[in-house]
Amino acid sequence: MENKNAINKIKFSNIIKQKERELKDPKRTFTSKKGGENKMKKRILTGDRPTGPLHLGHYVGSLENRVRFQNEYDCFFIIADYQVLTDHLRETAKTERYIKEVVLDYLSVGISPEKSTIFIQSLIPEIAELTMYFSMMVTLARLQRNPTVKEEVKAAKISEMSYGFLGYPISQAADILSVRANLIPVGEDQLAHVEQTREIARTFNRLFGKVFPIPEGLVGRVPRLVGLDGQKMSKSRGNAIFLSDSPETVRRKINTAITDPARIHPTDLGHPDICNIFQYHKAFNPSECKEIEDDCKKGKIGCVTCKKRLAEVINRFLEPIREKRRYYDGQEKLIKAVLGAGNEKTRKETKETIKLVREAMHFDYKRLLQD
Ligand code: TRP
Repeated sequence: MENKNAINKIKFSNIIKQKERELKDPKRTFTSKKGGENKMKKRILTGDRPTGPLHLGHYVGSLENRVRFQNEYDCFFIIADYQVLTDHLRETAKTERYIKEVVLDYLSVGISPEKSTIFIQSLIPEIAELTMYFSMMVTLARLQRNPTVKEEVKAAKISEMSYGFLGYPISQAADILSVRANLIPVGEDQLAHVEQTREIARTFNRLFGKVFPIPEGLVGRVPRLVGLDGQKMSKSRGNAIFLSDSPETVRRKINTAITDPARIHPTDLGHPDICNIFQYHKAFNPSECKEIEDDCKKGKIGCVTCKKRLAEVINRFLEPIREKRRYYDGQEKLIKAVLGAGNEKTRKETKETIKLVREAMHFDYKRLLQD
């Protein structure tokens, strides 16, 4: 593959060495069903909703960690089409196109289909089955306390929430536990769902015996990247820089972004700590960040110049991703093969999980149905 080198050149020099020590040895001792000891790779599961292209917030929150850990972990990446129904119920006609966009985003940032498994949520019936069981183990009050769901309901301006919207964290727990995942690389907003998943896993294990590991969340080096308007970066708010944006689009978006409101003239003393453009310099421009901070505080660099420099850095960062995207875009056969193999590999694991679950719950009806 001619573009392999391009992606290899991306160096994430300032990745926080968060949890480095405990992640160093992902090999765990695993007791197989037959009682033997197997060395197995630990598993990652994480994913995205196919409601649009992925953006820089996804990158620093989760994608970067996925690429980073795909050698050491057995990785499952879910394209969560059920979740589209929570707040985009009338836009399902677009889902197929967005699924393809998400796959392209994954491949473009360096997720390798040879190492990792990419699959579509609704094609895995075991996830729906697990959701049913788990829904009996969570109270209504617990769901109503979920801060991420509350935020999303507010953002989508939904006055009356559906049962499925309120309950989607249970379905997300089913995603994670269907492959018995150990590590969940996510943006900060998803930690509430990981916590819910841990509670469900504990409850199940307590009631029926130990079937599930208790998964851990892993937040990226920038837990919550702000949008260009200073609010949460989100596909629907129009404040995001997409991984697939062209250089011109990146320049235009950064140019119109809000900066420190107290600065009117380039020589006014700036406050980088409250400027969202500076948050991007911190995330994507570590080598110039200190100088820009000092110059801004002293009124030695104006917002226009500061934005120009940022646009250059972001465009340089996105270039290898764009290059890979150009390579994969249009390769329909390859994308089909990736999803086909991904679904198949995932089902192998989820079927095994359901078997363990049904046995544990005395729902295998051996005496009733077998000779
Ligand atoms: N809720 C996640 C998002 O909106 C997507 C998602 C679905 C997910 N299932 C998951 C993330 C399981 C982590 C684990 O981005």
